[in-house]
Amino acid sequence: MIEFKNVSKIYPPDFVGVKNISLRIQDGEFVSVIGKSGSGKTTLVKLLMAEEPISHGELKIGDVEVTKIKRNEIPSLRRQIGAVFQDYKLLPRKTIFENVAYALEVCGINNKRIGEIVPQVLRVVGLEGKEGRYPLQISGGEQQRAAIARALVHSPKLLVADEPTGNLDALNTQEIIELLKKINSLGTTVLLVTHNREVVNALKKRVVTLDMGMVVGDAEHGRYKI
Ligand SMILES: Nc1ncnc2c1ncn2[C@@H]1O[C@H](COP(=O)(O)OP(=O)(O)OP(=O)(O)O)[C@@H](O)[C@H]1O
Ligand SMILES: [Mg+2]
Repeated sequence: MIEFKNVSKIYPPDFVGVKNISLRIQDGEFVSVIGKSGSGKTTLVKLLMAEEPISHGELKIGDVEVTKIKRNEIPSLRRQIGAVFQDYKLLPRKTIFENVAYALEVCGINNKRIGEIVPQVLRVVGLEGKEGRYPLQISGGEQQRAAIARALVHSPKLLVADEPTGNLDALNTQEIIELLKKINSLGTTVLLVTHNREVVNALKKRVVTLDMGMVVGDAEHGRYKI
């Protein structure tokens, strides 16, 4: 379970990122986070990944107290969280296979294990056959699927996707959302930040709405309203 208890993030000197957020997300949930530009969505993601220190309150992910996390515990927390962004963040000089493998290499995983895991996650995202291509030799939708494959290499309990379809057309958007639903149905908690009205309305899942850093809506089968 993820639990935010009265969490605030103030960026120095006094810019509010999020303010007094209290939120519980159960294992296996699919939660969309919506809100205007600047409402605190990415800040929420950064706090989950311990990319920014929390100013006030408590944040727990499973049995990890993110608020009290020590520097040397951060890599292990990040391995439990797969992250996907609008701009895929693939390395242009590495093939798709190498991009995905790299996330394992940096953790000291041996080649034999890498040779098992990479084809497995590429199969989940439907990229078998394209592993030898470079990012610029595949489509935007495929690049995002490669980024999702990379996010899955450590079998994370949580996948956070910050506007993953922001650069994609309607058809590719639909495919990425179907993929996120599939990953969720395999047991991973999914937190999706999105501006896409159609996506949120079609999902019919929990919707958390932020405004000026605060939670102003939390609906079980929510619709896009901001
Ligand atoms: N590094 C930073 N330093 C200072 N203020 C910041 C920083 N990052 C974000 N903020 C501020 O925190 C607030 C929330 O920003 P955040 O990036 O979380 O918004 P968002 O909901 O993700 O917006 P968008 O939809 O545009 O991505 C905004 O007012 C923003 O200006
Ligand atoms: Mg953002």
